[in-house]
Amino acid sequence: MISKKMEEALNKQLNAELFSSYLYLAMAAYLEDLNLNGMASWMRLQSQEEYEHGLKFYEYIGSVGKRVKLEALETPQFEWKNPQEAFEAALAHEKKITKNIYDLSDLAVDEKDHATRNFLNWFVDEQVEEVASVTVIVEKFKMVSDSKNSLYLLDKELGKRGQK
Ligand SMILES: [Fe+2]
Ligand SMILES: [Fe+2]
Repeated sequence: MISKKMEEALNKQLNAELFSSYLYLAMAAYLEDLNLNGMASWMRLQSQEEYEHGLKFYEYIGSVGKRVKLEALETPQFEWKNPQEAFEAALAHEKKITKNIYDLSDLAVDEKDHATRNFLNWFVDEQVEEVASVTVIVEKFKMVSDSKNSLYLLDKELGKRGQK
């Protein structure tokens, strides 16, 4: 059994994961509009992953006998200055999500809710990966600066995500 407070916090995180999915889909649309289809496809995959993260919360809340309560999603940002800024915003967002997960974990520890703590551990690991992978992309943007040629190559590279 989880506490009411924990139930609400998990529901809030479910909303945050779905919002992440929405935000990355907005970024995908922005990149697609610039004909950066590789970067857009990276963002679409990221958006799908976030939806799956949301589903993990959905399933966990159900598995402890509670019913998910879906709330309205915030409207995601629509414009970015350039693709680099969009990826920087993605990195800032992932850092914020990491903080959320840590706060949730702290709450689970405070409440001696070991099952929830254990559930959250997957997200703790996942956030390390997410922050690392977006950091690498942001660093690459910084390396290539404004060169169109490099942007083209980076677009191509990011488009390879998900291809075997
Ligand atoms: Fe996530
Ligand atoms: Fe994420």
